[in-house]
Amino acid sequence: LRLPGDKSMSHRALLYAALADGETLVVGAGDGHDVRSTAGIVAALGAAVSREAASPDDAPGTARWRVRSGGRESLRAAVVPLDCGNSGTSMRLGAGLVAGVPGVHTLTGDASLQSRPMARVLEPLTAMGAAATGSGEAGTRAPLTITGGALRGIDWAPATPSAQVKGCVLLAALAATGESIYREVVATRDHTERMLVARGAALRTSRDASGTTVTIAPGELSALPLVTIPGDPSSATFWLVAGSLHPDADLLIRGVSLNPTRRHAIDLLQRMGARIDEFPAADDGSGEPVGDLRVRSAALHGIDMTPTDVALAIDEVPILSLAAAMATGATSIRGAGELCAKESDRIAGVAAGLTALGLTISVTGDDLHFVGGGRPAAGSTKSLGDHRLAMTFAIAGLVSGTAVSVDDPAAAAVSYPTFYDDVARIGAAA
Ligand code: S3P
Repeated sequence: LRLPGDKSMSHRALLYAALADGETLVVGAGDGHDVRSTAGIVAALGAAVSREAASPDDAPGTARWRVRSGGRESLRAAVVPLDCGNSGTSMRLGAGLVAGVPGVHTLTGDASLQSRPMARVLEPLTAMGAAATGSGEAGTRAPLTITGGALRGIDWAPATPSAQVKGCVLLAALAATGESIYREVVATRDHTERMLVARGAALRTSRDASGTTVTIAPGELSALPLVTIPGDPSSATFWLVAGSLHPDADLLIRGVSLNPTRRHAIDLLQRMGARIDEFPAADDGSGEPVGDLRVRSAALHGIDMTPTDVALAIDEVPILSLAAAMATGATSIRGAGELCAKESDRIAGVAAGLTALGLTISVTGDDLHFVGGGRPAAGSTKSLGDHRLAMTFAIAGLVSGTAVSVDDPAAAAVSYPTFYDDVARIGAAA
């Protein structure tokens, strides 16, 4: 299998290209709806964005984008709202970018995105001196209105671990006067840091017993002529679980990001007894490790996942829940409350879908509990318009060979537009 490019890195490659003076070709970008939303935002702000023809070597489900920009100075507020679609990353990182671009910007999105919490970015941007307001009763939902311009550096410790909030603050910090500091108790994915450093940002990270501290100085980014995005490890996890649970599987997934802050689902599955081998590729100088993953059928057993495990594998909890429901013995996933603030209420959605397939899952507060040892029965599930739920329930059908129907399966295209092609290929091979 070759997977669409990592969503987190694809968003950042496009946004950072818009802030740099020069031309960037992004190869292997995930071609899901979310990354297309970011490409649209970058174009609306005035960068020249064109989609290039794919090369036969490009992975399925990827896009090539050429971005030409004159740097931050050349960007201007769009006359129409910036449409982030379903994408929280486009909105939260986009908010950080426009806070440094003079003018009044509006960021909007679909019904799911308009229901998600945005105070977490409005608060630091306001502390930096931007006029940043939201909609809804509490003024903390999209559409957001942000007046970009003069910003000052801040020292920020977020209430909830979030790579999107970190990405927002560090983007705004590039346009501020003075240094900014971002403090994390649980280290979230670090693509922002790695990719900003690769583009010349003055950013340093230090770690001690209290957590991780990122310090960044304002400055311009350099344009990288060519950026190659590796396969998305969160998409790979669907296949790591499918390969582990299927009774006779041997799958090779090529060219996946093996960034240490994205591999926690691999660690958790290995703790459950998964047979996953990693084959790191030679360092390509991008600052982002890449490699192949091989997964074979395994007898999984239940484990206890802590709130830190959840924070480190935040996008993988739905598919890990399927593994937990089918593994031998009990699993608990504790402190998963943040899942309710994703594209859907993922705790409720996973519980409803797995229950509809006859699997045993119970929810107490923010914790999920699994008895284990289940096997999906035929049944009907609902994606709730959430890509990761659609794919989780499809994999339940694939590994059990039963007829699982998914309401609104097309949601998968948010992050993995070729998912059902791969299901058909792997299903045919099985
Ligand atoms: C992302 C960060 C995560 C993740 C999302 C992508 C990013 O969100 O759920 O899919 O690219 O920064 P939080 O870290 O904000 O929870």
